[in-house]
Amino acid sequence: MPRTKFIAGNWKLNLTVEDGVALVQGLAKVVKPGVEVAVCPTALALYPVAQAAKGSAVGVGAQNAYWEEKGAFTGEISASLIKNAGAKYVILGHSERRQYFGETDATVNKRLKAVLAQGLVPIVCVGETLQERQGGQLQAVLKRQVEGAIAGFTPDQLKTLVIAYEPVWAIGTGVVATTAQAQEAHAFVRGLLRASLGGLADSLRLQYGGSVKPDNAKELLGQPDIDGALVGGAALKLADFSAIVAAAG
Ligand code: 13P
Repeated sequence: MPRTKFIAGNWKLNLTVEDGVALVQGLAKVVKPGVEVAVCPTALALYPVAQAAKGSAVGVGAQNAYWEEKGAFTGEISASLIKNAGAKYVILGHSERRQYFGETDATVNKRLKAVLAQGLVPIVCVGETLQERQGGQLQAVLKRQVEGAIAGFTPDQLKTLVIAYEPVWAIGTGVVATTAQAQEAHAFVRGLLRASLGGLADSLRLQYGGSVKPDNAKELLGQPDIDGALVGGAALKLADFSAIVAAAG
């Protein structure tokens, strides 16, 4: 079965509520069914952006979720509140969370459980640093991150799983992985998924992330194991993000 291409914009810590609503309203006008499209605003903008996207082909996602549902956890947001706000997706384990906020494979695993329990679609991020790549650690790092994230789940529970391969050295740097490097890493990740989950691996979407722009999207998305993109900087501009979505169609 062919995998529907999936383009998601990770807005990170950018855009006011008003700017986010305006961006999603613009996107809603140009996105046609056929490619799955989502935007992931800050937690503050989730509800208004989801309201503005209602009835359109644009879905909304959060950038993280805590593993507890509610209680005395100051500053956290839960998967059930994300769902209540109208979101469908949650990014987990982004390298910026791993780098700056102490995210580990074990905590990604706990978050994944909470996200799946709410019926939300997880986008689990993996990827190596430049030092790890240069040290010959690429495959070991990807294996640890992928297997750590999905440990303890059955294939049936992971039917909606999306993995984003984002080499840390390509994020926000303007340095994009070559199509060959990206395809090779994606094929390796799919192989890991096949070893853990069997045939399900062939229907799961793998996104590439790291300096995806309108001018490199088509070539990346044309690779056999690249089923979409997780876009940072270029997702903040309507024209750029729309062009990336169009390249997936
Ligand atoms: P850039 O597209 O800005 O490199 O960011 C990629 C990313 O981290 C998406 O999650």
